[in-house]
Amino acid sequence: MTDVVATPRWADSSRGLGRVIELLIGIGLLRRPLFFQARQLIIRTAERNGIPWRKRRSELRLAAEPLVCSSATPGLSPPDYYKVRFHAYEQGNLCWQAAAEAEQATDAMALRVWPEADHSPAQAQKRLRDAIHNAVEPLLTGPLQRVVDLGCSVGVSTLALTHWLNRRADQNGLPRPEVIGLDLSPEMLAVAKVRDAGGLVAEWRHAAAEDTALQAGSLDLISLQFVCHELPQQATHAVLAEAARLLRPGGALVMVDQDPASSVLQKLPAAVATLLKSTEPYIEDYFRLDMPLALKHAGFQHLQVSACDPRHRVIACLR
Ligand SMILES: C[S@@+](CC[C@H](N)C(=O)[O-])C[C@H]1O[C@@H](n2cnc3c(N)ncnc32)[C@H](O)[C@@H]1O
Repeated sequence: MTDVVATPRWADSSRGLGRVIELLIGIGLLRRPLFFQARQLIIRTAERNGIPWRKRRSELRLAAEPLVCSSATPGLSPPDYYKVRFHAYEQGNLCWQAAAEAEQATDAMALRVWPEADHSPAQAQKRLRDAIHNAVEPLLTGPLQRVVDLGCSVGVSTLALTHWLNRRADQNGLPRPEVIGLDLSPEMLAVAKVRDAGGLVAEWRHAAAEDTALQAGSLDLISLQFVCHELPQQATHAVLAEAARLLRPGGALVMVDQDPASSVLQKLPAAVATLLKSTEPYIEDYFRLDMPLALKHAGFQHLQVSACDPRHRVIACLR
């Protein structure tokens, strides 16, 4: 592993609190009831905050199920690291429950960023995504023809990006770009298609972000939102290498994820830290990776690193 950059104390499993948390999580008998309680709490809190968690889960699953076969690339088998337990789902991202709850979980995450604000879920989501788009805007030059959102899940990031890029193109009298959403979960892509009822996104593509089969130098912008904390370090390096291959010279990458240096993460209460660590198998890998250095090694330059909100760091850079 690369040297520790700013690993929060609770995420460092080699010592102290992190070590204790690691040992507790390893005990299945403790983990399962913990997950159950945590899930109930998350759903109750979300519904109290205006996210119709269970109703939406039923609606999305019902509408998406018929689309799942046509959303899968025949013969594609996901890498082993992707098939592990994630977010308290035993089958990780490859199951209906994860796919039909991803929209609600993403809105709940956005609300948690500004606990003091009186945002609706849609307002919080918009504030979160606007800050990401604003960070990459200064690096965009000329018309954008082709854009990909890697790790698009059910399309929350993809649709926000597409709306913003279309508005930007219309305001400047430029053609609208073709946007592709790419993910490894056919269930999530099926839900994304349901959510994109207007067909704004050109393609929902089932592929690994590190092996997209898209043409080299064919993209003007790549978005990588909240994906790297779900990857072991080796996979992050492979995804960055693929992004560098896909972008034309001068093309831009925008990456956003948890900010290891943020005071919110550094001071996370032990109970929340235990939960986070037990549901995010690669979080320690992520915190230990020097991301700006990894980007430079992959061939990116002009890195602009900033805190886009109290929890997250956005990095915009050029190929
Ligand atoms: C937390 S979600 C992020 C969703 C979305 N980008 C957003 O900002 O709302 C992470 C997504 O990355 C996807 N993912 C993880 N590893 C991947 C890989 N190697 N290739 C493609 N997608 C991957 C997961 O399936 C999941 O949908």
